[in-house]
Amino acid sequence: MKKLFNGFEYLEIKNSAATAKIALSGAHIFEYKRSSEEDILWLSDIAAFKEGTAIRGGIPICWPSFGMNNPRLPQHGFARTSLFSLLYSEDIDEHTTEVLLRLTDSQRSRKLWNYKFELNLKITVSDTLKMELETINKDRQAFTLTQAFHTYFNISNIKDVMISGLDKKPFLDALDGKIKRQNGAIKFSLEYDAVYQKVDGEIVLEDKRRTISIKAEGSSSAVVWNPWIEKCSRMSYMSKEAYKEFVCIETSNAFDDFRVLQPNHSHTLKATFTPL
Ligand code: BG6
Repeated sequence: MKKLFNGFEYLEIKNSAATAKIALSGAHIFEYKRSSEEDILWLSDIAAFKEGTAIRGGIPICWPSFGMNNPRLPQHGFARTSLFSLLYSEDIDEHTTEVLLRLTDSQRSRKLWNYKFELNLKITVSDTLKMELETINKDRQAFTLTQAFHTYFNISNIKDVMISGLDKKPFLDALDGKIKRQNGAIKFSLEYDAVYQKVDGEIVLEDKRRTISIKAEGSSSAVVWNPWIEKCSRMSYMSKEAYKEFVCIETSNAFDDFRVLQPNHSHTLKATFTPL
């Protein structure tokens, strides 16, 4: 475990295939790169590394509510600002490392959301990055769950990227609240904030420099977001021009893809990111 001067703790993983950095605060992976390749994940040059603040970049865990799906919770829930416990970090072989982090209910969480739960995040760092987020309902009542891996991808320039795999899918345009239908691949020339529904296959991010495949399980929605110029200048921990450097493609259970978990039941959201 490594520590910054302010006590902020993170794990540094190195194997023959890749390197990664994972903060205990938020179980937040904020660096992942394959050996001698560029970062897959974008990280803001003014991100704050302090407990209780979400890191701007990497993969924030939005849980147990995505966006303002539960208006009584903070935006994107409280997991991203909570301290997880490290259960283990283990080298499976020379190019694969597995990490398990856990969050359980506490006085703080019960004040915000009065349920007993266990949340387990397994991260597998190899020549692909795999995330598995298991929610177990330990309460006597059912609860509703929306969530996301809010992945910030590092790109060459937002004007040069293209996202495919969502053609003909209906989406909620969060900018005007209307349901629309995707026509072809996604390209960017304005602010973009959309929750895709009925997602059932691979999503591919094509950049000038490389292509990344995103495969999901336990999910039928995905969020695509770029704040563009004006919103970017208002965002916390984000430089003015940062919108050019990233796009978020978020593997989710959002909007009408919510899950209701009965007592003792669990749900696992999985995502695999593969640079092609
Ligand atoms: C996205 C939302 O998932 O997250 C956007 O669709 C939001 O509307 C963005 O602006 C960033 O949210 P936050 O809370 O990390 O600033």
